[in-house]
Amino acid sequence: MRSAVCPGSFDPVTNGHVDVFTRASDMADEVTIAVLVNRTKQSLFTLDERVDLLDASVAHLANVKVDVFEGLLVDWCRAHGVKHVIKGLRAVSDFDYELQMAQMNQRLSGIDTFFISTSPQYSFLSSSLVREVGRFGGDVSTMVPASVATRLVERFAEQGSPS
Ligand code: PNS
Repeated sequence: MRSAVCPGSFDPVTNGHVDVFTRASDMADEVTIAVLVNRTKQSLFTLDERVDLLDASVAHLANVKVDVFEGLLVDWCRAHGVKHVIKGLRAVSDFDYELQMAQMNQRLSGIDTFFISTSPQYSFLSSSLVREVGRFGGDVSTMVPASVATRLVERFAEQGSPS
């Protein structure tokens, strides 16, 4: 596979995502992590922060880079000549929606999605749970890259403790 894209919100990136990027980097010559610009959804980290955290988390992977996209993923793929999407699948609960998106993207553009099964040690992990646990002071340091763990503590300190 020449080039592939791993799209997502990554608010924030977790070790489960990094596992998928690492394995994708073995499958494709060039992998782009494409971060969705979503102007309607409130995120914990700004787009620039999410990109910086991703950059730090994949700095050791020479053929992986980070970009942002707004609108349809398939339009970004067309503009960049990328014909393959790679996504992680954690459990059967992911499957329905992921399959629907994959089929829609295929219909719109002919672009195929390849699923990597998440490594079992990360199958419970999601950005939303990391945010929730971190917000209440739980230890997520084994679940996210070190830079993310640090920024989570800082962000929740800035926001003040939840009531
Ligand atoms: O991390 P997420 O939130 O599960 O990522 C979802 C994402 C960004 C991959 C998906 O929502 C997406 O591709 N959005 C862009 C809009 C689009 O192309 N929609 C049609 C896909 S069916």
